[in-house]
Amino acid sequence: MVRLSFSFPTEIVEEGEVRVVVPKLEAYKRGTYEYAPSKAPVFYNPVMELNRDLAVITLQTYQNKIGRSLIVSEPLTGCGVRGIRFAKEVEGVERVLLNDLNPLAVELTKHNISLNGLEGKVTVTNEDANLFLSRHAAPHRRFDFIDIDPFGSPSPYIDSAVRALRDGGLIALTATDMAPLCGVYPNVSMRKYGGRSLSTEYCHEIAIRLLTGCLARTAAKHDVGVMPTFSYASDHYIRLYALISHGAREADRTLRMMGYILHCFSCFHREVHPGLVPCLNERCEECGSRLEVAGPLWLGRLFDKGFCGSMLLEASRRELRNRRRIVRLLTLIREEAEGPITYYVADKVSDRFNLTVPPLSAVLNKLRDLGFQATPTHFNARGFRTTAPARVVRDVITELAG
Ligand SMILES: C[S@@+](CC[C@H](N)C(=O)[O-])C[C@H]1O[C@@H](n2cnc3c(N)ncnc32)[C@H](O)[C@@H]1O
Ligand SMILES: [Zn+2]
Repeated sequence: MVRLSFSFPTEIVEEGEVRVVVPKLEAYKRGTYEYAPSKAPVFYNPVMELNRDLAVITLQTYQNKIGRSLIVSEPLTGCGVRGIRFAKEVEGVERVLLNDLNPLAVELTKHNISLNGLEGKVTVTNEDANLFLSRHAAPHRRFDFIDIDPFGSPSPYIDSAVRALRDGGLIALTATDMAPLCGVYPNVSMRKYGGRSLSTEYCHEIAIRLLTGCLARTAAKHDVGVMPTFSYASDHYIRLYALISHGAREADRTLRMMGYILHCFSCFHREVHPGLVPCLNERCEECGSRLEVAGPLWLGRLFDKGFCGSMLLEASRRELRNRRRIVRLLTLIREEAEGPITYYVADKVSDRFNLTVPPLSAVLNKLRDLGFQATPTHFNARGFRTTAPARVVRDVITELAG
């Protein structure tokens, strides 16, 4: 155990190409295996290494595309590991500005900056994240990339992050408040994200669409448009990366991507209705049951296929502990990137109609034989996107269960 001048037990961990001092994980164990990062005096969660790896890969892919040096910020930095990794592992990063409200986090981050020889390139401040971002809202002070990785919901920081990004900048948002976003507390989702969540088998996709919708509407009031480049769900969180572009026209284009998803819990039928004030059907056209509503939320694309392909190349040339997992995730996302909105889960359909569960590959092949698009989804190992209607999905699963 390394004991520095900190008032709590610490240890050194290696992640990516950096070494950082973090609270000694053993000291904050909840059960035999489970570590409770929020109990430590400074936050560090080893489970989020994949999240940080993907942030490094995304930022490098973005930098390769725009081809100029970047000013990057992380307003809720914890022990600083994420921002320090940006400075060390992403070519073309000129400066990284870190911030945290917790003075102990700032003290530890300062130590970690010098441990990695990054004084001058990385700095850290100690203020509220919204105040920090607002100080960077003037045109010449804005960032190219802002990574918001908070406890729970990022929604309190979205407004000031949009104002602190330059035209063409990239925003990254983590949300860990999965119960509101996945339909357990739809009223909380309405409060935090301005849209109703729904507890369907594709609730993680709805969660990302609600977060994107919240970003889109927050940006629109500043005459700013957004376009997701990459998003995913993993472990206990969702993550969204979106480019922002200035201009009322961009904001209008963005708002045209808002709308609702209607879901029938009896027969799996779904409907997508664009527009913030559309006329919504109340009854399922297939079985007559009541339709449940999710939204308003983002109905546009969640992934840029080309950008995800470039991320794959970037991932394959890096030495990362999670590389196999990352390559698998990006491969799945590239495949589903242009698929229809919402996905099915074979087991849910089989359960509902008392059928044995067929192999996913058989379902995909059968749907393709019938002339429909069908791809797996990274959201669920038993899930698939298809252009086939729910009725055909049910027929295919029934036949294969036969
Ligand atoms: C989930 S942790 C950040 C983890 C970090 N991004 C990483 O990748 O390891 C959230 C951090 O936000 C800080 N925080 C909470 N409220 C804040 C606020 N209003 N302004 C600035 N920092 C805040 C906490 O002290 C904590 O360090
Ligand atoms: Zn129905």
